[in-house]
Amino acid sequence: MKIQYIDAYEILDSRGNPTVEAKITTESGISSKASVPSGASTGTKEAIELRDGDKERFGGKGVLEACKNIREKIMPAIKGIDVTEQWEIDKTMIELDGTENKSKLGANAILAVSLAVARSGAKYSHLPLWKYLRNSLRFKKDENYDFPVPLLNVINGGVHADSGLDVQEYMIIPSGIKGFANRMRAGAELYHALRNRLAEQGFRVAVGDEGGFAPSLHSNEDALAQIANTVKSSNYELGKQVKIGMDVAASEFYDKKKDLYDMKLDQKQLNSKQMAELYEKWIEDYHIELIEDPMSEFDWKGWTDFNKQSGDKITIVGDDLTVTNKKIVEEAHKKKAINSVLIKVNQIGSLSETAQCIQAARNHDMSIAISHRSGETEDTFIADLAVAATAEYVKFGAPARSERVSKYNRISKIERKHHEIISFS
Ligand code: PGA
Ligand code: ZN
Repeated sequence: MKIQYIDAYEILDSRGNPTVEAKITTESGISSKASVPSGASTGTKEAIELRDGDKERFGGKGVLEACKNIREKIMPAIKGIDVTEQWEIDKTMIELDGTENKSKLGANAILAVSLAVARSGAKYSHLPLWKYLRNSLRFKKDENYDFPVPLLNVINGGVHADSGLDVQEYMIIPSGIKGFANRMRAGAELYHALRNRLAEQGFRVAVGDEGGFAPSLHSNEDALAQIANTVKSSNYELGKQVKIGMDVAASEFYDKKKDLYDMKLDQKQLNSKQMAELYEKWIEDYHIELIEDPMSEFDWKGWTDFNKQSGDKITIVGDDLTVTNKKIVEEAHKKKAINSVLIKVNQIGSLSETAQCIQAARNHDMSIAISHRSGETEDTFIADLAVAATAEYVKFGAPARSERVSKYNRISKIERKHHEIISFS
């Protein structure tokens, strides 16, 4: 079914900043929408999010230009192409833009259309989005797939909150529990238990951008201890059913000139070797399963050394390092820097390039985590993408706040349907 018309307009994201939504209408009159998220702690090699820069509107963050690019440049170029031709449509947009980082049309413009195209294709094919994506993006089917493990961000720091924590995210990982909805139950119960524990100690329990608490703790390690103690005093077994994870987002506090990591809260300036030693201690003491961005994107040696030290014990995830770019994933593989890749659709700016990055990770036996951004919309597209790609992990924030929970809920519902189909067949 051919594309007839594309509309694009500004909507607000979860932080109250404008973002792009695109709406595609086919010749048969079916329409589908998709919107794009926005990060705060971005990698320098991410595709460019086009912002108007007009300080009179949204402090310069308007996206009218990106919307106009969809209506006036992208629409004429892809009008008349069949909505199921995802690869051809993405390629056409990428060529129309012509830059390495999508700075001309804007990655936000291209991605909104790319995702809406996939939704249209799924509707036209009468398939649930995840199943359609599995076919169109050529992901492998896995009969034994037990849905992803959620990385639930329960304490927020870094640029996502004013907690003073240098580490950006502390996560509950219910990886020893079978079934997605059961994992979410554990995550939600522990989230509430953590809230009570923090409140009892007099810490504030207001939340940060991703729905995790933002207490002014005494040290970065204290956050790990708070979570570990919460799990220990619950019905869940720490280290077996539930583990702990961190997104350090270390690029944010790396001093490039001094080649040091400036942990302000701990009043420590550490080199990458000392950081690795610190992580090693935390891995042992707190049942850490996963660390994302342990080193800066400019510190490749730090990554390689850390992966050598700890890569056989824990999952080491590249985010700002790899920015969903298949070429950088290849480089990271060659340098033995990571064993897992974070996947964010807006870091690369099209669905087919996202699929290529996932493929690159798979070619090198790396696990993947499909991720939201700190600025999100109510669009649940990435939930379907995670199931389609049989992702090991999903990272959609805390088990609270609807822009996060809607994505987790979408996976729970796919899982429920899956079990229904199995029990009836
Ligand atoms: P961001 O944070 O969306 O602000 O980049 C998420 C992350 O670093 O994983
Ligand atoms: Zn990250």
